[in-house]
Amino acid sequence: MVQPRIVDEPLQASGGSLSSRVMRILSGIQPSGALHLGNYFGMMRPAIELQTQGDAYYFIANYHSMTSLTDAAERRRHTLDVALGFLACGLDPQKSVFWRQSDVPEVTELTWLLTTVTPMGLLERCHSYKDKLARGVAPSHGLFAYPVLMAADILIFDSNVVPVGRDQKQHVEVTRDIAIKFNQLYGETFVIPEPRIREDVAVVPGIDGQKMSKSYGNTIEIFGEEKATRKKIMGLVMDSRSPAEPKPDAEKNIAIQLLKLVAPAEVAADYETRLRAGGLGYGDLKKALFENYWTCFAAARARRAELAANPGYVQQVLREGAVKARAVATKVLQRAKLAAGLD
Ligand code: ADP
Ligand code: TRP
Repeated sequence: MVQPRIVDEPLQASGGSLSSRVMRILSGIQPSGALHLGNYFGMMRPAIELQTQGDAYYFIANYHSMTSLTDAAERRRHTLDVALGFLACGLDPQKSVFWRQSDVPEVTELTWLLTTVTPMGLLERCHSYKDKLARGVAPSHGLFAYPVLMAADILIFDSNVVPVGRDQKQHVEVTRDIAIKFNQLYGETFVIPEPRIREDVAVVPGIDGQKMSKSYGNTIEIFGEEKATRKKIMGLVMDSRSPAEPKPDAEKNIAIQLLKLVAPAEVAADYETRLRAGGLGYGDLKKALFENYWTCFAAARARRAELAANPGYVQQVLREGAVKARAVATKVLQRAKLAAGLD
């Protein structure tokens, strides 16, 4: 088996210099709906924390969003929304390269090269595809082939580490398999990436207790409107046990699980202890959850409002990011084409 490449080892036929570079971190997020707590704790926060650990590359996966969203105006709106939200939450364009996927169209060319070495069975086994079919989504070829585009996104930047939520782990494993196969067939070409999953927040629960996801309609948005979000949180469905009754299963309570994410650790621990002991009503717990949620994102909310008033700046960040990203992508695509005899 091909081992993950040591990052400072130069690649043969690289068509560019890879020598002595730091770890490259890459992730993407689709502009297919409003950003929610699952996106934030599962992917955005880890990605933001990692931007000081290496060379960080983050992008808005607008090509991917075409597998589920067919409204151009919506896509434009969500693209801006993801850009504003990510920057507001702490993505720093001085530390990270940040761009729109479609501004680096080389990924679609690499996708074709990868498609030809991707076994059908590998894609047929993908949970996210099977889940979508099970939910009655009409399968397009794009939906089926989407992990190959994701592999191209990752491989075209010689990425070492890919921070994602647990639901995306399989796609990074597929990427590894595709890269290994290509390397076996055409010689050492791609860096083999590793998924990076934060196990403490691997799956953020939604308001119905299932995985929080925009496709399940169970999200709490990061930048939700105050009144509507309070209503959503106060509407969390709990069981019918009286406030006085001890709740030995307090750690399973959704409000407690969410409180652990948005509140300081000691505050969440105190509520959990009180719920377990009995005497804490669900209404008070939900109120605390709303207040801590609101405070948790107060600074990001203010920053987002500033950025929204300056759309020219956001567009400039994305344009400059695309120039930097494209310079890398062009070299790696060239390396892959040379390896495959497409000179
Ligand atoms: P959605 O499921 O709402 O469509 P996406 O597929 O756009 O979300 O996910 C974007 C990123 O956020 C991915 O890295 C994904 O793993 C992460 N993510 C989404 N929902 C959750 C969740 N409930 N818990 C943890 N991570 C999540
Ligand atoms: N498929 C990811 C999602 O739905 C988004 C994505 C596209 C991605 N390309 C990527 C994530 C490359 C990490 C690396 O959430």
